[in-house]
Amino acid sequence: MSRYVVTGAAGFIGSQLAEALQDAGHDVTGVDCFTDFYDAAEKERNARGLDVRRVDLADEQLELDGVDGVFHLAAQAGVRSFGDVFPTYVRRNLLASQRVFEACAQAGVRVVFASSSSIYGETETYPTPEDAEPRPISPYGITKLGCEHLARAYGSAFGLDAVVLRYFTVYGPRQRPDMFFRRVCDALRTGGSFEIFGSGEQSRSFTYVGDAVDATIAAMQRAEPGAVFNVGGGEEASMLEAIALLERLSGRALDVRHTGNAKGDVSRTSADVSRIAAALGWRPRTSLEDGLARMWSWASATVAAG
Ligand code: UGA
Repeated sequence: MSRYVVTGAAGFIGSQLAEALQDAGHDVTGVDCFTDFYDAAEKERNARGLDVRRVDLADEQLELDGVDGVFHLAAQAGVRSFGDVFPTYVRRNLLASQRVFEACAQAGVRVVFASSSSIYGETETYPTPEDAEPRPISPYGITKLGCEHLARAYGSAFGLDAVVLRYFTVYGPRQRPDMFFRRVCDALRTGGSFEIFGSGEQSRSFTYVGDAVDATIAAMQRAEPGAVFNVGGGEEASMLEAIALLERLSGRALDVRHTGNAKGDVSRTSADVSRIAAALGWRPRTSLEDGLARMWSWASATVAAG
């Protein structure tokens, strides 16, 4: 049994990671500042059954006495991040992570940092390996890449034991309300319209949340210090293909409207997961069809329950 801290434990991925750790018999303390990025009631629901403390990592101290490892998932997420929101990204990503890395370095505790496929930007190589040149095109991606560099700098200056995971568009139950599949599910169940950004030909290596959780735990337990891994789904799909799949699974038709491209959105992500497969024996196991079936049954049950 180990003692872990999960930051962002009331969030989409963090809450399911904390539950999995708890189910495996570990002692888990969650930390979250319940920001108003989306309905805090949803985060309260995610956190049910977990010990989640209200901490703003950008200016409060992270207590690490007796802790064996920190999963740092707290962040301002969302790639559509130009404009007035930028200071929020700087505070919740760069400032908060700097303090987490500082605390972990001082306590001699491993940190697994949740980075993002968005650090690659419009890359030249697909599937994209970890050593592709990072060229983020969104302010969000730039802050995540900045955090990766900070972790590395704390590693060389103060011996921080950090492992970086680059998640590729994670989906499944509890997905954030601003994300693509969640919006599609919400429109399917309410009969509302769905706005697709651009042509819908853009594609993603969608990653099922349970697979992302497994990779994250394996990284804490078995990765080499300083390792950087892609965590991406096996099947790349375009938005239009994904919508067709959800229409079939739900038995409903989606009212799709097209709007302009969203600034900061990449046209394609495709994860090369050979490094994490070789190092940790992890590979994505959940097909897009199975993962979306689970997501749809969660989304429709949430509504049935009011
Ligand atoms: C997601 C997360 O939001 C980021 O926090 C994460 O870091 C990132 O994945 C990642 O992989 O690194 P994104 O790929 O934009 O970012 O995920 P979605 O919000 O699910 O969007 C997927 C696609 O659907 C995008 O091309 C977007 O333009 C499109 N979309 C999204 C729409 O057409 N309409 C919408 O209402 C929402």
